[in-house]
This record gives sequence, structure tokens and C-alpha cells, in this order.
Amino acid sequence: MATSNAKVKVGIIGCGNIAPAYIKGCQAFSVLDLVACADIEMERAELLAAQYDLKPYTVAGLLTDPDIQIVINLTIPRAHAEVSLAVIEAGKHVHSEKPLATTRADGKKVVEAAKQAGVRVGCAPDTFLGGGGQTCRKLIEDGWIGEPVAATAFMMGHGPESWHPNPDFYYQQGGGPLFDMGPYYLTALVNLLGPVKRVGATTRMSFLERIATSEMHYGRHIPVEVATHTTAVLDFASGPVGTAILSFDIWAHNLPRIEIYGSEGTLSVPDPNTFRGPASVWRTDEREWREMPMTHNVNVGRGIGVADMAYGLLSGRAHRASGDLAYHVLEIMESFDEASSAGKYVEIESRPAQPAPLPLGLLPGTLDE
Ligand SMILES: NC(=O)c1ccc[n+]([C@@H]2O[C@H](COP(=O)([O-])OP(=O)(O)OC[C@H]3O[C@@H](n4cnc5c(N)ncnc54)[C@H](O)[C@@H]3O)[C@@H](O)[C@H]2O)c1
Repeated sequence: MATSNAKVKVGIIGCGNIAPAYIKGCQAFSVLDLVACADIEMERAELLAAQYDLKPYTVAGLLTDPDIQIVINLTIPRAHAEVSLAVIEAGKHVHSEKPLATTRADGKKVVEAAKQAGVRVGCAPDTFLGGGGQTCRKLIEDGWIGEPVAATAFMMGHGPESWHPNPDFYYQQGGGPLFDMGPYYLTALVNLLGPVKRVGATTRMSFLERIATSEMHYGRHIPVEVATHTTAVLDFASGPVGTAILSFDIWAHNLPRIEIYGSEGTLSVPDPNTFRGPASVWRTDEREWREMPMTHNVNVGRGIGVADMAYGLLSGRAHRASGDLAYHVLEIMESFDEASSAGKYVEIESRPAQPAPLPLGLLPGTLDE
């Protein structure tokens, strides 16, 4: 059983743009003891280690440190599977950034290798564990919109080349709006409505190259290797039907991020790339939008999924941002491309359990044991 002062030692592989957010997020949970970081480029590990008082390692060095139990894989998408497999082979638990892998086949290898080795796989996004995602889950389960019948999810923008310091990977296999942002929207939908059983989609690559406008790469041409616009239909196993658009080809729009439509009203879901609200409900008996109070903590960040895994390790319970959930999302994303090329619906084979909701009344910096 977990005790309030038990700690799990954690290391990071991949010391890039998102690493500081994880470090701060992990430091907010006393169950996590983040001690080390590694990168394929040793100088990056040394720089991050000096900033946050961590031990810098080569990747091999971190993997052979016997004290480290969970490794957070913050490498670029096409390295995720290879790095996660190396972590598993070293007998450690891994929490990967999204996507779990860039192909369903590699995702399956990661999940199955972990099962064989008796270690855990977790995967981003863990944003659905924030106050916004958990409040929406509770509102649906408590019947505020009646029986869910449909959902929409729209992530539309013009890509990260205007701000990201290394934007190329967003236009390579494992990137694009689908693999980059899709996991937030699809994981949020699965958290709210359960797994998906069938998808249809049309995808397109609207521009053959992108032009960076960030200060450091201004004017640089980036080749595009992946679809940058996906329009999809999702049939949820529980009954509702979803419509999703994920695009890096849109300059401006007036569509919501996520809405869930029920027999008694509508739920407006907050940005699934944040841990916050607001969540609003429109009900037939009130006929106006009402912003709902948050039932769960919004002051959490990236790392809550790692903390949830650590609590799971200590108590034996399942963790919520699981490899099975991420594999399901990966299967959905890859099936959009297949549905588009084949011009037909694709059945989704994986059927993970809807992640358990977080209990009410957790103290800040803690999760359920
Ligand atoms: N930047 C963001 O705002 C953001 C937000 C959420 C999620 N993410 C996700 O986090 C991951 C990392 O993104 P980022 O923006 O930090 O990228 P980045 O390019 O800034 O950093 C990636 C780091 O991984 C290292 N790396 C690459 N391959 C490696 C390997 N095989 N072994 C060890 N180290 C390796 C690189 O040297 C680099 O330091 C991606 O999956 C991305 O989708 C990023």
C-alpha cells in the first residue's frame, strides 16, 4: 500500500522544449522524485540538469541507474517507440509523450513488450486528468445533459512553425495535426464517452511545404510529409457519433473545441490541451448557458499522469493515462488515414476500459492511492 511519504524515482529522456513543463509538473507531486535527465545530445542534458538540479546522463547511463523506476520519454515522435522499448528492456516503467508511436505496429510492440516484462506503459496526454476534463466527466455521469447522442471536436490552426524552435518534426511521420494534436482531442472524447468502435475520414495535404516564421528560423522552408487536414466521423461503442476536424491549414474559424450533445442539453468542454475549465452546460429546462464550478483541481500540469502511475505502482491499482488508452487513440488516428485512402469505414479493434474518474476531494499534490 502507498504511504503518504513513499516516493518513486523518475528520470527524463529528451531535454527539449516541453521538458521544463514536466519538471515543474512532477515537482508538484510529492510521490515523484525527479532525479535525472538524458538526451541524445549530451549538452542538452547538461544544460537542463544544471537549470533544475538534476543528474545529467547519457541515455545508456540513465537506463542503467538502478534507482530510477519511471522514465519519462520526451523525445520526438519518431523516436518514441525506440526509446520506450529501450526503457522497458532496462526493466523500467515508461511514460511517453504522445503519440505512443508513429505506427500502430510499433505502438503494439511497446504495449506488448511492457506486458511481457511486467512493467507499466503510460502516455500523454494526461490533460484529461485536470479539473476541466474531470468536471466534464462528472457532469455527464451525473446526467446534466441526459444521454449523450453526439460530439464534435475541432482543432484548427495554422501549425507550429510560427513559434516552435524545432518545427520540422511536426510535418514528418508521427506529426501533422492528427498525431500532434489528435491525442488531446481523441483522449478527451474517450474519457468522456468511452472507446470508439468505427471511424470514417477524409484527409488531405494542402501545402507541400511550410514556411517558418519564428525568430530563429524565419523564412526557412519545411517539407511536408503528412496530411495536414483531417475530417473524421467516430462511432463510439456506447452509441454517440462524433465529428472531428484536425487541421494545420486553417487561419481562422468560429467553431468550438469540443461539445457533447445529450438528450437533455449540451456540454461545452474546455480546451483539452489544458488542465483547466471553463465547462458550460445548456439544459432544456434553463435554455441558457451556465458555467459550472470545477469539481476537481485545475492547478495541475503535465506530470499528473506520471504521478498517477507512481501511485498505481505503490498501491497496485491501474493508472489512467495508460498505454492501452494511448494505443486505442493511435489505432483511431492511423485508421483515419486508412479510411481516407480506402474510401470506407474502418473498424477499431482495441476496446480499452474508459479510464476511472478521479475521486472528489483530493488534496493538492496528491492522487488516490
Ligand atoms: N513543445 C511543446 O509545446 C509540446 C507540448 C506537448 C507535447 N509535446 C511533445 O513532446 C515531445 C517532445 O517535444 P519537444 O517540443 O520538447 O521537442 P524538442 O525537439 O524540443 O525536444 C526533443 C528532445 O529529444 C531529444 N531526442 C531526440 N531523439 C532522441 C533519442 N533517440 N534519444 C534521446 N533523446 C532524443 C532531442 O535531442 C531533443 O532535445 C514530442 O512528442 C511533442 O509532441 C511538446
